Order: sequence, then C-alpha cells, then structure tokens
Amino acid sequence: MTAALPYANGHIHIGHLVEYLQTDIWVRFQKLRGHECRFFCADDTHGTAIMIRAKKENRSEEALITEMKEAHVGDFAGFGIEFDNYGSTNSDENKELCGEIWQSIRDAGLVKEKEIEQLFDPEEGIFLADRFVRGTCPHCQLENQPGDNCDNGHTYTPTELINPVSTVSGATPELRKATHLFIELEQLHEFLNEWTQSGEHLQSEIANYLKGHFLGDELRDWDISRPAPYFGFEIPDAPGNYWYVWFDAPIGYIASTWEWCKKNGQNLDDWWKNPETEIHHFIGKDITYFHTLFWPGMLKTAGYSLPEKIHIHGFLNVDGEKMSKSKGTFIQASTYLNHLDPSFLRYYFASKLGPKVDDIDLNLDDFQQKINSDLVGKVVNIASRCAKFVANQNLSETYPVDDGLFQQGTAAGETIAKFYEDCNYSAAMREIMLLADRANQYIEGKEPWALRKDPERADELRDICTVGINLFRQIIVYLTPVLPELTAKTDALLTEPITSWDDSQTPLTGTPVNKFQHMLQRIDPQKVAAMTDEAQSEQTTEEAVPALDLSQWNDGSKALEAEPLAEECTIDDFVKVDLRIARIVEANHVPDANKLLQLTLSLGGGVTKNVFAGIKKAYEPEALVGKLVVCVANLKPRQMKFGLSEGMVCASGPGGADVFLLSPDDGAVPGQRVH
Ligand code: MSP
Repeated sequence: MTAALPYANGHIHIGHLVEYLQTDIWVRFQKLRGHECRFFCADDTHGTAIMIRAKKENRSEEALITEMKEAHVGDFAGFGIEFDNYGSTNSDENKELCGEIWQSIRDAGLVKEKEIEQLFDPEEGIFLADRFVRGTCPHCQLENQPGDNCDNGHTYTPTELINPVSTVSGATPELRKATHLFIELEQLHEFLNEWTQSGEHLQSEIANYLKGHFLGDELRDWDISRPAPYFGFEIPDAPGNYWYVWFDAPIGYIASTWEWCKKNGQNLDDWWKNPETEIHHFIGKDITYFHTLFWPGMLKTAGYSLPEKIHIHGFLNVDGEKMSKSKGTFIQASTYLNHLDPSFLRYYFASKLGPKVDDIDLNLDDFQQKINSDLVGKVVNIASRCAKFVANQNLSETYPVDDGLFQQGTAAGETIAKFYEDCNYSAAMREIMLLADRANQYIEGKEPWALRKDPERADELRDICTVGINLFRQIIVYLTPVLPELTAKTDALLTEPITSWDDSQTPLTGTPVNKFQHMLQRIDPQKVAAMTDEAQSEQTTEEAVPALDLSQWNDGSKALEAEPLAEECTIDDFVKVDLRIARIVEANHVPDANKLLQLTLSLGGGVTKNVFAGIKKAYEPEALVGKLVVCVANLKPRQMKFGLSEGMVCASGPGGADVFLLSPDDGAVPGQRVH
C-alpha cells in the first residue's frame, strides 16, 4: 500500500490527513484481517520549489529536506499513522531505480528530443515551472492568474499568458529555447486504454474522466527532463538535464519498499514483480493524471507489477469552503495536535469517507457533535456503564443469554468488513453505531446500576455486565482500524488483547476486568476555538488560500430587479416537477455546438440520463465530472440536432459565461428527491 509522497516544501495539514488516515485505516484493516500487508511512503523532495525555498532560506536543499522529513514523520506518528517504511525520493535506492526504469523506457524506443520554448527568469537564472508564473488569462482577461489555468476554468500554456510575471523574483520572464526529453505516451495508448477501462483498477468516474479527456485523442508527449539548475537526479545519458520531479516521485514508492527490503532481508522483486502481490495506491484527485496514465505506462515498460487498484479521494473543505488561513481553517497537523485528540479526526474522517471521489467537508460544529454523540455518548458509554460493576472481578464463566445481540454483531462483521474493503468507511461507521445503539438499549433496559446494592442479584449483575462488555469489545474490534488507541485502552481494561478481526466472533468469558480508566473526553468547544485561533495566527510557508471576496455578494438585488418573481404557484404545481440529485459521470464537448455540453447524469441505482446543457461557455467538461447537481428528472425528452436530451440541470444566471450550476451540500446522494 502506498499513500502519495507529500512534498517536502510544506508541513502536513488536515487536508493531507484525509489521505494518510484513509490509507492507514485500510492498512490496519487488512492487517487485522490477517493479510501480509506493508505500507510505504516517503517525502517527495525534488523540483524547483525546494530549490527556490532553500536558496531563499540560505541553506542547502539537503538541510531543508532533512528538517521537513523529521517534521512529517512526527506529524504522522502523532496521528497514529504507521508506515512500514518512510523514505525519501532523494535516496540512493531511488536514483538507482530511476536509472534502471529510464533505461527500459529508452530501450523501448519511447524517448525523443524536442526543442521547446519556455519562460525563463533572467534574474534568478532558472526556467519557470507553470506555477511560478502569473499573468492575465488569454481567454477571459482575468488578471493575476496562474501559469496553466485561470479561476474561470480556462486552460493555456504559460507562454500564452498576457503580461507574465515571475513569482520568484517579480521579473518579466523571457522566452528561451531548450532541448527537453519527452516520453511518447501515444505508443502506450492501446495498453492504457485497456488498463484504465477494464473496470478493475479505477473508480468508474475516474475511468470515464480519462476516456473523455485523454484517451479519446492522441496522447501528448510527456516532457520528462528539466535543464540545470534543478534539484533532482541528473539524467545519466543527458548530462546537464535532470529528471522532472514527477518522473522520480512515483519511483519513490518502489525505492521506499527497497529500503525496507534491505533492512528486513527481503527481496524487492517479491513485492514489485510478483503476480501474487497486490499494489494499492491511495491518492487525491489532483494527481490522477500522473498516477493513471504515466505511472502504469512506466511500470509496464519496465516490467514491474501494475497497481491492482488506485483509490482516489476528493479534497477536504472546512465549514463548506476551501481551507482558509484567514478563517483559521488552514490547520496544520501539529496545530491540531496541540489542542485535540487525534482519534477524533480519525473517526470524523472515517465517518465522512466513501468510495467515490467526492470532496469531504469538516464542519467544525458537526465534528464536535459527532464525536461527543458517537464516540463518547454511544461507544465508550457502554464500557463506562458496565465495567465499574465488575472491576477487579472476572466476567461470567459462560456467556449469558443476551437476546441474540452478540450473534447479531457477529453477523454484521462481514458487512462491515466489506465496507472497509470498498473504502466505504462512512457506511462501516453507520453500521457499527447501530450495534452501539442496540448495546446501549440493552443496558438501559437491564439497569445494572439498580442491581448493585442487592447482593442477592450479584450474579445477574455480572451477567449483564458480561454482555455489555462483550458487545463493547465487539464494537471495538470493528473500530480498531480507525481507533487503534481506543483498542489499546480496551486491551488494558480487559487484559485479552485484540489481535485479529476474528476476536469479534467469540465472547470473552471468565477473564479478569481491570479498573475502568477514562477512555475519551468530550470535546471542549474552547479547544476547537483555540486551535482555529492558533491556525489563524500561524506563519506558514504554504500558499495561503485566498479569502472569500465579499464584494461578490453585493449584486444580488440587481438580479431580482431584472427578473421579477413569477406568478404565485401552489405546492401541487411545485411537486409536479421531479427534481433529483444527480452526479455528472461524463461531460463532453459536442462537435459543432457553440453553447452545449453533453452530460451523462447518474441518478443512482444504475439509472442514467443524457442531457445537453447550455453551459459550454461557463464550464470546462473536465471540471464537471464527479460533481453533484440538481436535475429535472421527469422532463419530457426532447430530440435535438445532437441527440436526445432527457432532462435538465438546474442553474442560475443570464447565460453565456455567467451560468452557475446548483450543487447540493455535502451528504446528498444521487437519486434523492429535492423538496
Ligand atoms: N508530491 C506529490 C505526490 C507525489 S506521489 C508520487 C503531491 N504532494 S502533496 O503534498 O501536494 O499532496 C500529497 C497528497 O495529499 C496528494 O494525494 C494530495 O491529493 C493530498 N492532498 C493535499 N491537499 C489535500 C486536501 N486539501 N484535501 C485532500 N487531500 C489533499 O501531490
């Protein structure tokens, strides 16, 4: 298993943690189920950003990446994320593997040279990567936009920008020529088509996205080299040129495995060239392209195993918006740890993560409520209400009659395991909380606290507590991948350690119970406020996410003047229109259409609708795939020049580039009716 290698130029923040926690939970789950499973990661250390930062801080790149690695390792450990090896892409192992894989790619005849023109910063003496140039968008004239795409979704090359400026020095960049090495990906087109579309390795929305945006056309050559100065590995047969960071970064997955193999007397080929070994990558949606096209192409050419699955997750928002420094929601891992228990975030993310690529929202109020109600109020409450009555005693020698509750929990085990396996952690958490609800109902019905003063009913009391404690332990087994610390506390209470998923299948009897120690505290809202205050005041080197521009709210009244309210309608009129939540699973340009995009909408349960929507001027199709929208689902189908349109998507705005799709809040599910 791997999680993406975090860049060494910034600290770990709670957005990153979505991924590292998602992966850690999966790894722990697989290990608990008895699989031999190893989790490898590393710092991604090369590239221009590190070079520029080291120069600015007047130290070597090596000194910078060493310090950052220590910080990353500490942050991950603080959240209970356990790697089998955490390496660095700036390692001997990685350099050697890059050389070997490069040679295979050369031997396969995939490399060619091309002279290209690139923006060059004359003050710094470096070629500028896209994100180190800003300027005016050549399509919509929006100012101060990044080098590759603008906030309105237009894409372009940095050389097309109007009035470009180097963000490194502020100088006006010059166009310069340089010879680069390219990999001809098109030669692997057929293989990539097959591999990405087989339905086995990628989520369906990702496979559709690749089909719609890349695989339908000739694949572009991949620019794989950068001229000096560049912090990275020099290409042995092209002196003065370095492998682009995205070439050596994924090879870092193999290099980290190799480091571990060397330390543990293992053979690398058993892990990376063995059909019996499955490779699973976990990544965020922003790096899909590199992992689903280039990486399988490299692996295939060099004779390494291809990933069994690439699990792709969405991005984290906080309180419904991008993380924002000014709002105190750009929270570093270390800042969180200064105030709150890591188990809380582990559980909260688990309760939000599903198998799809949707973004997830950390709503700070909901976070507090969920932790207090689920973990403290439901789960830990079971133990705290029973354990004290049997402290320093043994559980009953035979498992008492319990209305079939333990058996129901046993039966739920495979359903919960399947949810974990499918990365549907939110469904797993819901199922587990149902078990906790039932256990609490049992205890409330039996009222052990009412029996404790009656010595004649001591056996009955012990039986009730034996049931309660076993239901608790069963739940803790199921929560172990998410909450390993809670498992450790349960082990200390019940003396029989949980080591496998099967521990959920048989109750403990006759074993000792220790004194109950506090397991989890309710969240103190002041601590959450203290955390966001600290985040707000922090000096980070991350690019701050721009604060919301409030001026955009000021023109609402004009819209109402331009289009007064329509004639009154009744609720019966309203319900005639069947509005449904739908997910855009495919979005394509329509040849010869000026305004239309073709959308395939999924309404859940296998129902899809083909819709032609007049949103071409406002949206790039690739930005739409995976998005939830509101669809008029019972609209009479209409035959258009381009095909049959079977519905409409709801949007506001006068038209043209000013069209705004309605998108439901996080949590809505395709097929749900909008009331
Ligand atoms: N260095 C590359 C990955 C190379 S893998 C061979 C990189 N690094 S990163 O530090 O920017 O991101 C690491 C991972 O964290 C990526 O998978 C990225 O998608 C994920 N996330 C970074 N910010 C995130 C959020 N705000 N929300 C969710 N995941 C995020 O990309």
